[in-house]
Amino acid sequence: MLHNSQGLPVTTDSPEAIAAIDQFTHQMLSYGNNCQVITSGLAADPTSVLVNTHVAALHLFAETATAATEAQPYLHTARQHLDTATERERLYVEAIAAWADNDFDRALACHTLLAERYPRDLLAAQIGQYHHFNLGNAEELLTLVETILPANSENHFVYGMLAFGLEQCHRLAEAEAAGRRAVDLNRQDPWAHHAVAHVMETQQRLGEGITWMESLADTWESCGTFRTHNWWHVALYYLAQGNTDQALHLYDREIWGRATKDYSQCVINAISLLIRLELRGVDVGDRWQELGNAVCDRLHDHVSPLLDTQYIYALTRAGYDALATDMLHSIVTYSQQAHPSIRAIWAEVTLPVAEAMRAEARGDWSTSVEKFAIAQSRLHQLGGSHAQRGVYHQVYRHALAKLSQTELKTAV
Ligand SMILES: [Fe+2]
Repeated sequence: MLHNSQGLPVTTDSPEAIAAIDQFTHQMLSYGNNCQVITSGLAADPTSVLVNTHVAALHLFAETATAATEAQPYLHTARQHLDTATERERLYVEAIAAWADNDFDRALACHTLLAERYPRDLLAAQIGQYHHFNLGNAEELLTLVETILPANSENHFVYGMLAFGLEQCHRLAEAEAAGRRAVDLNRQDPWAHHAVAHVMETQQRLGEGITWMESLADTWESCGTFRTHNWWHVALYYLAQGNTDQALHLYDREIWGRATKDYSQCVINAISLLIRLELRGVDVGDRWQELGNAVCDRLHDHVSPLLDTQYIYALTRAGYDALATDMLHSIVTYSQQAHPSIRAIWAEVTLPVAEAMRAEARGDWSTSVEKFAIAQSRLHQLGGSHAQRGVYHQVYRHALAKLSQTELKTAV
């Protein structure tokens, strides 16, 4: 039995496995570009419960249709060695296994217990926040980090996590203070930069937001794909200022230009920005084609409502109408079969929004308005942040305006 850098016991005799766990934890919390480092722990201790479960989690974070299948062998190995594992390790295995099963109620019950009993386990709290984020549970997302805060009062990562939770609960002044505290403790904290960016966007402090983010952007070079999300926020400021040229420039230079083209979050950053640009009347040229190509083999992913409802828009705008129809059928089927913890969200929110987004992309304003109206009061259940869901409100308003123009012409 050894201990990790957070002082928590880990069932292994291998210092190399501990080093891999520590480096992986740091990479995850700092949104680094070397999360794969955890695989070196497999070589050091192939039977480690924690290393195997971290590798399973890494597969799941890829947000692909095959992720759960790819995670299974590692979960299987971890389960074979539970008899010597600590309680924390057993809870963590159960949490990640539940995630692989899309049983988010069970996963979150484990993450709540982990936060209460092992508040120094920041990675477990981060994963719990990720699930709450994807389920639109803003208050629970905040509660989880508040639970671990007293045990980590000097840790900048925790203040970044706190800042984002506060922002999602509209406690903007406190969110900004927590985010700035994180950055004061350590400037290399892209999640804290991001939380403050959300505050400034909500308050429409556009110039200040640009200065804040661009003054910290040098630190994002050591980030993985999260760099593109932070640049997406910068582009939103320029867009709100009416500087569509700069927003499009950032799309080409950073948001899609340096995207990992097969990573879900990179793809929806790009889709969401192209939608917003087009709604402002910008000619985006043939850029939809590349995005359509990026999602044409993701028809059956159903990893999250936020992803599917934007993928289908890109497919349609790229001219892949038959594929968009197939995807819609697949969402219908999935919404009937999804795990009970998420089935209602898929059937009652994701499906009508997917129909609305597809209709908007085809210029069918009437259907878009009709379908959005069904889900309007529950859009938060699509998951994601207020900023990410802003695109649905913009599309809905656009469809309403187009529909009323059409009705006016018909009446005249
Ligand atoms: Fe964001």
